[in-house]
Amino acid sequence: MAEKMVVTPWEVSGKIDYDQLIKGFGMKPFARFAKILPDNVLFRRGIVYGHRDFERIADAIKKKKEFVMMTGLMPTGKFHLGHKILADQIIYYQSHGAKVYVAVADIEAYNTRLGSMKELKKTAIEEYLLNYIALGLKPKNCDFYFQSNRSSNAKKANAYYKLAGMAARHITFNEMKAIYGAINPGRITSALFQASDMFHPELPEFGGPKPVVVPVGFDQDPHLRLARDIGNRIKEFKFIQLSSTYHKFVVGLKGGKMSSSDPTSFIALTDSPEEAAKKIRKHAFSGGQETVEMHRKKGGNPDIDVSYQWLYAFFEPNDKKIKNIHDDYKSGALLTGELKEYLIKKVTAFLKEHQKKREKARNMVDKFLVKD
Ligand code: TRP
Repeated sequence: MAEKMVVTPWEVSGKIDYDQLIKGFGMKPFARFAKILPDNVLFRRGIVYGHRDFERIADAIKKKKEFVMMTGLMPTGKFHLGHKILADQIIYYQSHGAKVYVAVADIEAYNTRLGSMKELKKTAIEEYLLNYIALGLKPKNCDFYFQSNRSSNAKKANAYYKLAGMAARHITFNEMKAIYGAINPGRITSALFQASDMFHPELPEFGGPKPVVVPVGFDQDPHLRLARDIGNRIKEFKFIQLSSTYHKFVVGLKGGKMSSSDPTSFIALTDSPEEAAKKIRKHAFSGGQETVEMHRKKGGNPDIDVSYQWLYAFFEPNDKKIKNIHDDYKSGALLTGELKEYLIKKVTAFLKEHQKKREKARNMVDKFLVKD
């Protein structure tokens, strides 16, 4: 485990030390807000772990003042548990008074992965929007848009594209290179669109300056730093600086990274319950001992056990129950097989329910797509 930690938008490897990341990136620990906002499992359990400028968001939630939650999605691959962590946050902020902006980064995807615009749109709806709706996203106070089609209201659309265009003056080639390494016109374009995604809710055409929170994984911070620099330097609009939160990485089924290109590393929200159970039985990395006898004697290690980690982050919101599972596994009273079956019970029940809701969500799609 002496492997060096690397955390960039392009590579995550080594043993992750989140406290060191917070220091190195110049963020702050999120813990004190978890105390103010205890009704969010991800906050309470330290999965959302770092932040920048979150004070004004906590304040807006508390005082019921206007604020925005902004995020973007790459419409490629399958929607899996790694994506759910962000979806849960979107829905949390919406239910706490945020106006939600979700950008489908189809221009970015087109320029970096070369899918057709038509395919990208289909994936955005089938994999992302339908799952978001099934998880609880509401059409009210939600602006779900495509980078390639911001709005049919020309004033709003122009404002968004104008900001993306103007942003270019406020960043240097070397700054971009430092962030993106291998740089090309597609990446430059994507970065400018992304900065506009993040700041355009503050334009006069969208109601003027207001607090905006962008929740991301730790590896995405360079994007935030770039956008923040641009926001600071554009003097025309009096932007309130972005707030952001940073969540920990969701461990993959086999213990390593959750990777979209390896279906045995994740559970997709469209996997059948049987498929999911099979994957967990076969692949879930265990923190248990080699034999039942040894496990009873020495106990297991919940900190590296994937079934436990997934229960902790997603499937066992009851704090008392998760603590019991933790303690019983550690003492050896609970066996790996039993822990896996508990997870399987939770996951299959969730998937069954979710997939019904996802089919029903088809009727709602138009409510999200048709707007001014
Ligand atoms: N670049 C992001 C990704 O790779 C997608 C994205 C586009 C985004 N615009 C955004 C994320 C605005 C957050 C906010 O996933």
